[in-house]
Amino acid sequence: MPTLTYLGHSAFLVQGSSGAVIIDPFLNDNPLATMKAGDVKADFVLLTHGHGDHLGDAVEIARNNNAVIVAAFELANYCASKGAQVHPMHIGGARKFSFGSLKLTIAHHGSSTPDGAYMGEPSGLLITMDGKTFYHAGDTGLFLDMKLIGEMNRIDVAALPIGDNFTMGIDDAVKATEFLNAGLYIPMHYKTFDVIDVNPGEFVEKAAARGARAQVLEINGSLEF
Ligand code: NI
Ligand code: MN
Repeated sequence: MPTLTYLGHSAFLVQGSSGAVIIDPFLNDNPLATMKAGDVKADFVLLTHGHGDHLGDAVEIARNNNAVIVAAFELANYCASKGAQVHPMHIGGARKFSFGSLKLTIAHHGSSTPDGAYMGEPSGLLITMDGKTFYHAGDTGLFLDMKLIGEMNRIDVAALPIGDNFTMGIDDAVKATEFLNAGLYIPMHYKTFDVIDVNPGEFVEKAAARGARAQVLEINGSLEF
C-alpha cells in the first residue's frame, strides 16, 4: 500500500514498495511547509507545470537525491539546463518507471518558469504504484474530459485544487468528483496565498453531500491507500 503525504500547497510525497516520488515540491519558499528541500528523500520528482509554486525546489531535490525530474518536454528540458537529470514526456503519454507508472493528462492552465520562459502545456499526473492509482490534477479549471479520466482509470485517491482564483474553486472541484469517481479526494492549492484562502472543510462537506468521500490532509499528514 503506497503512503501519500501532503507537504502543503500542491506538494505530495508518494512512497511505494519500489520507490518514492515527490510532486510539485514548493517547500523552501512556502512558509506553511515545514519539510524543506534538504529533508526530502525521493527517487523521482514529478512536475505538473513550471510556475514557481510547483517547480519550487525540484532541481535542488533532484541533485541532492540523484533523482530524475519527470515533466512535460519543455519543462524537463528547462530543468536539464539547470543541471538536473530529466525524463521528458507529454500529455497522453504513459511510461513505466522503477517506482510504478505515470501518465500525463491535460490540465487547463498556463506553464512558464519564474523567469518567464514558456513551458508548453501544463499537465495532471496519473501515478500507479503497487496497483493503486493517485490522480494529481495539477493547476486546472474544471473540464469535462475529467469524465474520460474517471472512466478509463480506477482512481483510488485524487488531489484537486480548490483555492479558486487561479484554479477550480470548491464548487467546481465538487463537480469534478462526479466525473472522476475516485475513492477519496484530497483538497490542495488553498491557503498558501491570501487570494486562495478558502476553507477545505467546506469542500469536504459539499463533496459528502454529493456522495463523494473527501478528507483534508494537514501539512505532513499522511494516509495509506
Ligand atoms: Ni500554476
Ligand atoms: Mn499554482
